[in-house]
Order: sequence, then structure tokens, then C-alpha cells
Amino acid sequence: MKTVLVTGAGGYIGSVLVPKLLNKGYKVKAVDRFFFGKDKLINHPNLEIIKEDVRKLSEKYFEGVDYVVDLVAISNDPSGERFNEATWQINYQSRVNTAKLSKKTGVKRYILPSSCSIYGFQEDIVDENSPTNPLTTYAKANEKAEKEILPLADDSFLVTVIRQGTVFGYTPRMRFDLAINGMTFGAWKTGKLPLMRDGTQYRPFVHVEDTTDVMIMLLEFEDVNKINGQIFNVGGEELNYQLGQLGNKVKRVVEEETGKTVEIQWYGDPDKRSYRVSFEKIKNTLNWTPKRDAEFGVREIIKKLESGELDKTTQTITLDWYTELEKWYQIIKDLEMYGGILNIKEG
Ligand SMILES: NC(=O)c1ccc[n+]([C@@H]2O[C@H](COP(=O)([O-])OP(=O)(O)OC[C@H]3O[C@@H](n4cnc5c(N)ncnc54)[C@H](O)[C@@H]3O)[C@@H](O)[C@H]2O)c1
Repeated sequence: MKTVLVTGAGGYIGSVLVPKLLNKGYKVKAVDRFFFGKDKLINHPNLEIIKEDVRKLSEKYFEGVDYVVDLVAISNDPSGERFNEATWQINYQSRVNTAKLSKKTGVKRYILPSSCSIYGFQEDIVDENSPTNPLTTYAKANEKAEKEILPLADDSFLVTVIRQGTVFGYTPRMRFDLAINGMTFGAWKTGKLPLMRDGTQYRPFVHVEDTTDVMIMLLEFEDVNKINGQIFNVGGEELNYQLGQLGNKVKRVVEEETGKTVEIQWYGDPDKRSYRVSFEKIKNTLNWTPKRDAEFGVREIIKKLESGELDKTTQTITLDWYTELEKWYQIIKDLEMYGGILNIKEG
């Protein structure tokens, strides 16, 4: 039985990857501060929960670990700007450190889940050999992590980078700050679909079940020469959307599902990020294409919303939740006496 250490295991992607690994018979060490709650992962005899900050990882955590999927991050552009220093530490420094510790302790495979956002703004279709153009702290930290981690690859330490498109779909740690998910919620709840100006910008997408399938495929892929030291864009040609076109697609599906009219509601300044990505490499080298499209994701989210299992809370907007946690940390620190606020410890 192989053991996989997953960082950021309680996050949007981790909360799908971890149960998938457990179902496939892996042992999982789930490392996370669990900023979004421990309840996102269900107990399992082969699951070890490690509540730790990735900036403090040391060799002992890697004992008996075969593979590492290093998901941890402050995970979007606005949070990266607001928590700039922490983003460099977590998304870049800690992941380089985790990769080095993995190599030192005999881990066999290390997967770095990076992002297509490192392409930034590009006129032409970009592939893994195109120059990158990271425009935000989040994208720059990803790029630096890639550059320092890839050269660690050798015959006994396999390293693969995946540049994921913007992920969509339902997960236990739901994120409505991701384009398809956010559009679906707005359209379903209020009949107004939020769309970032000016709608001509290109963005690639990938369903969370598909990107986690790729992570597991890379842990199991036998022809290691095809994946070691390699970068793969993860997504599909038909999932490269101009946001205006995507908004109209989501609008149509929500209208079909609810029978109500949906209006497009524009917001923000024109988005400077636009990238259209080639997914030929993963298709031709690994014979992989995504199985789920945007429509599948929208219908799945609506089903969860209608069942009452899912709602948009502060926790589902990454920037808002981290901002609240920082605010309440200060307030509680100032107020706390004798181990409590109104209820205090006896004695
Ligand atoms: N979701 C997307 O659209 C997308 C797209 C491309 C790449 N990615 C990358 O995939 C990875 C996972 O993204 P996600 O959407 O699941 O993000 P997420 O915010 O849902 O998950 C990140 C997890 O990391 C944990 N974490 C943050 N700082 C920590 C620290 N210092 N120590 C321990 N744990 C900490 C959080 O508690 C959270 O559970 C990230 O690296 C992200 O950059 C995501």
C-alpha cells in the first residue's frame, strides 16, 4: 500500500483528491492548517490528518511517504495581492522546501499543481514551451516554484508540474470565487450572472474531477520518461472559453434548469489576463482528455444548491474568508482573558 502526502488537503481540490486516493487504496497523510475546516475530509482508517503549517514541515512528516501532491497555496490572485508576503512564503518557498525534503527523504514522485495563469496575457495560443508572462503575485510565485522544483528531477526522484486551467465543479470546500461556479450561483440565486469585463478575454477551464484524475494518473504512470521533469497544461481545447461566450453558455443552462430568465451583469475594469492554451501535449503524450464540460459542472452545482446542501457563505470566497480570519484573530486576541470571552476558565 503506497502512502501519499497531500498538502493543502482540506482545500477545494484536496477535498476531492483525498477521498479519491483513499478509494483507490492509498494511505493518505493530509497536511493542512484547515483554514476552511477539518470537516471537509471524512474520517477513514487510511487517512492521517496532520494539522501543520507547511512553512514548518520537517523530515519527520515524510517518513514512509512514497508520493507527494503539493496542493497548498494562498489560492487566487486577489488573496495573493492582499497577503503578499504569506503568498511568497507558502506558494513558493514552502513548496520548494517540501520538494527538497521529499527528495532527501526518498519520496519517489512529487507533483506540483501549478496554474495556467502564469501565461498572463498572450495574443497567440500558448503551449508548455511558450514564454510565460505572470502578471500577479500568485502567478509569479507559481512560476518561481516551477523553476526551482523542476531541476530537482532525477532518476530516483520524479517531478511533474501540471498547469491547471481554472477549476470548476462541486467540492466539499466549495469555492464561488472561481468563474464557472460564481456565474452559476449568481444566475441561479438572483437571475443575474456576474461577468468580468469585457468578456473577450480567454481562459481555459477544467473540472475538479478531471484535474484530480490527472494527479492520480501521474502517480501511477508507468513510462516515467514521458512525465519526469515535464510540464503539462491540464484542460481541453474545447474548454478554452472567451468569458462572454462562457457567460452565455452558463446563462442558457441555468435558464433551462430553473425555467427563469437570467441577465448578464457586468462588473470590474477590463480584465488584463487573457490566455488561450494548447492541451495537445497531455493529449498526445499521455492520451488524456477531460471527460466533463462546463455544462456538466453547472448542472451539478445547481443540483447541490437546490438540494439545500450547498450555499454561498463567506467561507466560499477565499479572499473574504482569509480577511475575516485575520480580522477576528486581532479582535479575539485583544478581548480574550482567562481563556475565554464571556465563559472563562475556573480557578
Ligand atoms: N482552483 C483553481 O481554479 C486552481 C487553478 C489552478 C491552480 N490551482 C492550484 O491548485 C492548488 C489548490 O487550489 P485550491 O483551489 O484547492 O485552493 P484552496 O484555497 O481551496 O486550498 C488551499 C488549502 O491550503 C491550506 N493552506 C493554506 N496555507 C497553508 C499553510 N501555510 N499551511 C498549511 N495549509 C495551508 C488551506 O487551509 C486550504 O485548505 C493551489 O496550489 C492552487 O494554486 C487551483
